[in-house]
Amino acid sequence: MEYDVIIPAAGSGTRMGAGKNKLLLELNERPIILHTLEVFAGEPDCSKMIVVIQPKEEKIFREMTVGSPYEKKLAFVYGGAERQHSVYNGLKAVSTGIVLVHDGARPFIRRPVIKQLVSEAVRSGAAIAAVPVKDTIKQAVDHEVVQTIDRSSLWQVQTPQAFRLPILQQAHEWARAEGYLGTDEASLVEKKGDISIKIIKSDYDNIKITTPEDLYFARAILEKRAQLDG
Ligand code: CTP
Ligand code: MG
Repeated sequence: MEYDVIIPAAGSGTRMGAGKNKLLLELNERPIILHTLEVFAGEPDCSKMIVVIQPKEEKIFREMTVGSPYEKKLAFVYGGAERQHSVYNGLKAVSTGIVLVHDGARPFIRRPVIKQLVSEAVRSGAAIAAVPVKDTIKQAVDHEVVQTIDRSSLWQVQTPQAFRLPILQQAHEWARAEGYLGTDEASLVEKKGDISIKIIKSDYDNIKITTPEDLYFARAILEKRAQLDG
C-alpha cells in the first residue's frame, strides 16, 4: 500500500552537543540523515519523503540530496519550534491515505518493520514500532523509590509510527486547539481517545541517535550489518 513518510529533521541536536544539527554528523562518511533517507528511498511503496528542515539549513539539505536517485521522491518543508510543530507542518504536504512519521535520527529502521506498520495502519488505523523494556523500571520522587513498575506490560516506543491520514490529521488539529504537546504522534491520538493503537515489535538497534555515545553504538551497528551483508 502506498504511503508518504514525514521525516522530522529540523532539530538542533542540543543533547549531542556537536554545535550543529546532529543529522549532519557523518557515519561511514555520509550524514546521518542520508542513511535514513536511503531506507525509504528503497521502498517502492513510499511515494514521498517529506523532510522537515530548518529554513537556515535548506541549502545544505538540498545540496546533499541533489542528483540522488531518489530526488524526485523528496519534498522539503519548514519545521517549527517543537518536533510536534514540525510534524504538523509536514502533514500539509501528505498526499496519500497512509502516512508514516519517522525521526531523521533513526537511520537503522528495518524494512520488514515498515511493512508491518503500513499493513497494520491500513487494517486498524494506527500502529507504532516499539521494543519490550529490558531494564527494571522504578518510579521515584527526589531520588527515593516509590515503586517498581511491572515490566511485562511496558514497551519502549520508537518510530516509525503509521496512521490512516485523517486519524493523524484530526489528532494534530485537536492537540493544536488544546495546546497539548506530546512526545510522539501516538500520544496525540491516545489523548484524543477513540482509536486503538497497535504495537509492532521492532528491533533494539533502531536507536535514536541522541547523545555522543550513540555515535559509538551507531558505528557498531553499521559494522555488524556490513559483516552480515558481506
Ligand atoms: N525535530 C524536528 N523539529 C524540532 C525538533 C526536533 O524536526 N523542532 C526532529 C529532529 O531533527 C530529530 C527528531 O525530530 O530527527 C527527534 O528529535 P530529537 O532526537 O530530540 O532531536 P533534536 O531535537 O535535534 O535533539 P535535542 O532534543 O537534543 O536538541
Ligand atoms: Mg529534541
